[in-house]
Amino acid sequence: MMKKNKVNTLPLVERNSFANDFRWGCSTSAYQVEGAVDVDGRGASIWDKFCEMPGAIRDGSSGTVACDHYHRWPEDLDHARDLGLNAYRFSIAWPRIFPDGRGAQANRKGLDFYSRLVDGLLERGIEPWPTLYHWDLPQTLQEQGGWANRDTVYAFAKFADAVSRNLGDRVKNWITHNEPWCSAFLGHYEGVHAPGLKHFGTALQACHHVLLSHGMAIPAIRHNIPGASIGIALSLHPLHPSSDSEADRQALKRHDGLRNRWFLDPLYGRGYPADIWQLCGKDAPEVREGDLATIATPTDFLGVNYYFPETVADASGDGPISTRVIELENVERTHFGWEVSPEGMVTLLERVARDYQPARMYVTENGSTYDDVANHEGRIDDFTRRSYLVRHLAALRDAVAKGIPVQGYFAWSLLDNFEWAEGYARRFGLIHVDYPTQQRRLKLSGEWYRFFLRG
Ligand code: FCB
Repeated sequence: MMKKNKVNTLPLVERNSFANDFRWGCSTSAYQVEGAVDVDGRGASIWDKFCEMPGAIRDGSSGTVACDHYHRWPEDLDHARDLGLNAYRFSIAWPRIFPDGRGAQANRKGLDFYSRLVDGLLERGIEPWPTLYHWDLPQTLQEQGGWANRDTVYAFAKFADAVSRNLGDRVKNWITHNEPWCSAFLGHYEGVHAPGLKHFGTALQACHHVLLSHGMAIPAIRHNIPGASIGIALSLHPLHPSSDSEADRQALKRHDGLRNRWFLDPLYGRGYPADIWQLCGKDAPEVREGDLATIATPTDFLGVNYYFPETVADASGDGPISTRVIELENVERTHFGWEVSPEGMVTLLERVARDYQPARMYVTENGSTYDDVANHEGRIDDFTRRSYLVRHLAALRDAVAKGIPVQGYFAWSLLDNFEWAEGYARRFGLIHVDYPTQQRRLKLSGEWYRFFLRG
């Protein structure tokens, strides 16, 4: 009953409650939408390889075709324009630019693709917001140790230099990395993302290199683009202890330490949190002199990817930080099982603003997956996703009203796409993709976003 009410009674939220120059976008990422994996000289990425591992992807699929966005981008950008977006976040596939991860010469055809995409966005009045790394490391670099190898850091800085030099005349806003927690820990510790490794120490080392590469890329981008605005997109979570007990409250602190502070602290000049460092023991990463200063290179904004809060309990002896995430009963969830909590987004943004004082923040991802069923007229009436979107925008309005410096929102995602280890089973799009025909169809949630943006 309570659930139903929540879905049916939506708060009123209007675009004019936000500043005129508020960025309204959608996000996608290269491997999830582009397809065309062997076109125009693209090299293999760790995700191409990972998808070949038996059992790695729930439905046995891969991003080989995905949404065929590499060829259908004009149509997709038309949709973005029709929605009324003024910003679009996408990622650049590193293996399209340097098929082997590095080299004297960038691949012209790869650069040209993103150049056309950027022009296409600008022609439609949409500001391009590229992310340099959304998890598709060139496979050749993985064969040399990937993110666990410090050389990858220097290769990334060169990649950032090549891309910013080529697009910098038209692109001002740059995101270095998407969700280092995922690339490091899902990929190197939990083994559920590429490259599929399961070693805590390797994950910590990879994580350090990812953060270091962020700091190294910044001067290259600034050198190429005077006035560039640069940030990183972190996956952050508001956390609750599962009880008032001292053990659970300590667990919460540890969980926060690895989930949130491990990234925010070094990025904002405090180094790695000492309490977690101590728990890492012999797995602690090798950090060379100057690394922490590089990681703390000033940025212009922080991107926050917000999906769900977590409730944390003590789990002594379970994993390096001995915490467990509790699945609360009777809470609203998406079909991924992720708890729905618009107010959690406000708590999170408030906390980050208070503790780290970023000059500006953008919600660089937020969205939901549900089983979308077409009605008898073929329409996708995704009431639950619409409700999710409306309520999160109302929460965002409240956050802004509190003085939290949020200046933009990017819905995940423009299109249904390849949802990593979940394959195509999880749909997050405001636009439905019928994969066999590649037909796009605006969902009800997309119609609402358009109505919100265009009035
Ligand atoms: C985020 C990822 C994005 C997408 C959404 C659902 O963690 O950045 O690529 O998979 O989750």
